Amino acid sequence: MTAEPTGVPSAPSRTSTERPGLFVTFEGGDGAGKTTQAAMLEEWLRAAGRTVVRTREPGGTDVGAIVRDLVLHHRGHIAPRAEALLYAADRAHHVETVVRPALARGDIVIQDRYLDSSVAYQGAGRVLDAADVRGLSLWATDGLLPDITVLLDLEPKTARARLDSDDKPFDRLEAEKSEFHDRVRAGFLRLAEAEPERFLVLDATEPADTLAERIREAVAARLGRRPPGDGRSRASSSGAGAPEATHARRRRGASA
Ligand code: TYD
Repeated sequence: MTAEPTGVPSAPSRTSTERPGLFVTFEGGDGAGKTTQAAMLEEWLRAAGRTVVRTREPGGTDVGAIVRDLVLHHRGHIAPRAEALLYAADRAHHVETVVRPALARGDIVIQDRYLDSSVAYQGAGRVLDAADVRGLSLWATDGLLPDITVLLDLEPKTARARLDSDDKPFDRLEAEKSEFHDRVRAGFLRLAEAEPERFLVLDATEPADTLAERIREAVAARLGRRPPGDGRSRASSSGAGAPEATHARRRRGASA
């Protein structure tokens, strides 16, 4: 286990074995390809008969949509602590009303962004203490951590070129200067280093299909590790190639 970098508090207060479902989050800077990969994973799992809940933060609930609009599109200053609290409020409501119920049913939750985004953006990117930001989110979610977090790592300049070609207006965070995005990227990498068992770090410049395959392997390995009768039944019953059977075998020692 890697030594813990300064400012990153340690790990999980809850373990994944306490719940039957699987919680997979996608993290990374803007433009890293999270949404594409989340969609590919969803499609693969559904084809294998799994029940998937695909969601995101901020904005995975009706309350969250209002918070999202505020944090991303408010014109003018928002105090950093207020910004951190708004993301945490969105997260608290989302986890209690969407994520935990899905995990309790045994579903697979695939989520764009979670508390690591807060630590990276509000902690490393802004001026707040990373440990405080993480502590706030852990309080907001009663300690819920993902089983797997896929970090799509991308150099901010490349990410910016991708966003530019998207032809969408930038939100408040996207519009930040490049040093901000460099700090965010470094913040994500520190988090991954502190929790190598949870994170799968991938080079986001790799082709989408290659990335998708690596992610499938990690997810399949995690599913394959589950003891029988822990919420997988509905998924495996519909067959369709049960990802855990085919992919767990060729898992490359890796970790996720
Ligand atoms: P995202 O939904 O990925 O943006 P888009 O739909 O435009 O691709 O994320 C919105 C922005 O919110 C992104 O710049 C990162 C930021 N963010 C935080 O600063 N803190 C957080 O806790 C979360 C979840 C997101």
